[in-house]
Amino acid sequence: MKPKHSKQGIAMRTVYVNGAYVPETEAKVSVFDRAFLFGDGIYEVASVLGGKLIDFPAHIARLHRSANELGMRIDVSDEEILAIHRELVSRNEVEEGVVYMQLTRGAVDRDFMFDTEKLKPTLVLFTQTRPLVDTAVARNGMKIVSIPDLRWGRCDIKTVQLLYPSLGKMEAKSRGADDAWMVRDGVVTEGTSNNAFIVTKTGAIVTRPLSNAILPGITRAALMSYSTASGTPVEEREFTIDEAREAAEAFITSASVFVGPVISIDGVELSGGKPGPVTLGLRKTYLEESLKRAI
Ligand code: PDD
Repeated sequence: MKPKHSKQGIAMRTVYVNGAYVPETEAKVSVFDRAFLFGDGIYEVASVLGGKLIDFPAHIARLHRSANELGMRIDVSDEEILAIHRELVSRNEVEEGVVYMQLTRGAVDRDFMFDTEKLKPTLVLFTQTRPLVDTAVARNGMKIVSIPDLRWGRCDIKTVQLLYPSLGKMEAKSRGADDAWMVRDGVVTEGTSNNAFIVTKTGAIVTRPLSNAILPGITRAALMSYSTASGTPVEEREFTIDEAREAAEAFITSASVFVGPVISIDGVELSGGKPGPVTLGLRKTYLEESLKRAI
């Protein structure tokens, strides 16, 4: 089905809200939704390549993990969630882009206390069509600046509380960079919306271990398994921002960028100011392997 168009001629997406497929301008969520009032919601972003979903089972598994950690219910089956993803990709004719899925605890008159059992979770999904493979970031790399990590203590849960990361990206932009890496006690935690990696001068690929301080990235995990399978296991250990500035290469991983080369950190050039060979090799491997498993 062709996407409808608004009066201005802008392609109007079909979005999903609580069981219904509706034009984006007609989609409604209550002003009492707890995600709107308290940030009480979780989300996933799955990428689409060639009309197929990348790393989908892992995104579903993480949605369940986030819900469990917050005592939030998921009333829709995994099969139904996959079917909704596919239906939106098809209705909006997404060849390359992402599907955003948000689940909230539900809507109830404003109160800090809540009774999950009495609430009906809100489920919203929409698509965004955009190039993911042939992008300026992939070709030219990205400039990173460091900022303090001032987020809460459960960054391992993928909640919609994204104000600090959003302000962090704005600060990076105002400092002439593309994104920010967050630093706690001198150690890099992660990027504002991605996991952080360095390649040392001796060729080791390093990323910090999982903990409550970072999101367990799906792209991170997939890349690590592909790298191990090809004979180069990723070393999981903390690294400081000073070590990162002196690394041979650096890169980020996320569902929407895959493997994104970093070409400078706080103004210090890495790999001669262009994407490094190890990073580009890993990006190629990730794309090949994840496409094989796309559904
Ligand atoms: N962000 N760390 C943070 C803080 C993130 O927000 C993300 C993802 C990641 C990478 O996780 P994954 O590989 O599963 O995408 C790490 C998504 C893409 C977003 O908010 O748009």
